[in-house]
Amino acid sequence: MIEVTSLSKQFGGVNAVDDISFSVEPGQVLGFLGPNGAGKSTTMRLITGFYRPSAGEVRVLGKDVHRQRRQVQQHLGYLPEGAPAYGDMRVDHYLDFIARARGLSRAERKNRLRAVSEQLELDAVLKQPVDTLSKGFKRRVGIAQTLVHDPSVLVLDEPTDGLDPNQKQHVRELLRNLAADKTVILSTHILEEVEAVCHRALIIAGGRVRADSTPGELVRQSRYCGAVTLELPNTHEAAAALRSLPETAGIEFSVDNPNRFTLLPTPGAPLFVAVQAKLAGKGWAPQAMSVESGRLDDVFRRITSNDAVEVSL
Ligand SMILES: Nc1ncnc2c1ncn2[C@@H]1O[C@H](COP(=O)(O)OP(=O)(O)OP(=O)(O)O)[C@@H](O)[C@H]1O
Ligand SMILES: [Mg+2]
Repeated sequence: MIEVTSLSKQFGGVNAVDDISFSVEPGQVLGFLGPNGAGKSTTMRLITGFYRPSAGEVRVLGKDVHRQRRQVQQHLGYLPEGAPAYGDMRVDHYLDFIARARGLSRAERKNRLRAVSEQLELDAVLKQPVDTLSKGFKRRVGIAQTLVHDPSVLVLDEPTDGLDPNQKQHVRELLRNLAADKTVILSTHILEEVEAVCHRALIIAGGRVRADSTPGELVRQSRYCGAVTLELPNTHEAAAALRSLPETAGIEFSVDNPNRFTLLPTPGAPLFVAVQAKLAGKGWAPQAMSVESGRLDDVFRRITSNDAVEVSL
């Protein structure tokens, strides 16, 4: 559906995107993660044909986005960073204008406008100029604009930026539903969003792909995968005993509960089993005990930290 091959973009001497390759299958939701300035928005502008690559190519539905730009645009919806253009237009006029530009007939425009207003819950603001909307509503108008012509590929640059928690949830559900018959690329700084919506995640830093995996696999690379958190009355004695297990690689004490601590596993070691055996042997009964599947923020930090960049260069 989308095929990116050896894509690069330079601005002056800066490699904003540096030899990126990946492809996206139909029905897949791909998340771009990365620190500020990583090259996420630039990659999206290259995919949508908004920028010309310095090297490499992008194919959408088998067509080169530059050489066959018009054919590709028909099947593409793009939400850029920030607020929609034409801020002095009323929301309904703006969406109608976009639908016209997309070549929809009068009847189609009416239907699609009703559908997208409903999907993004815009009915209350349809008669208001875009500039006078709150940040979250501007974002929702932007998303509506991408859906007007019912494209099969969506490229959404931080779609939930500025939305309140209810609307974030609503838009995530919408994206999950859209994925049934569309291919979606989105960028986000909200790691839980990737776990909630994306089938696959690319971690980008310094214009390069640092990881390309499912959110579940990424989480399993975390130091916290298999970590055991315990709450015991004899905290110090128990912590010392459990810290000395060969299966324990480290220990972190809770800030808000003096009786709680987390044991980090030695990679590959069955920490939970070892902890249970130790507790049984000592006759200690924990007040609470849980095992973690891992933390995406931990993996993100390790992959995108300056140290990691230096190592992989
Ligand atoms: N038009 C431009 N001219 C010059 N430099 C640019 C231009 N667009 C982007 N850059 C540079 O390219 C790099 C990547 O920027 P980009 O906007 O793609 O990052 P990003 O991953 O989207 O960051 P953020 O999370 O802050 O949105 C940055 O160093 C940026 O300053
Ligand atoms: Mg960006």
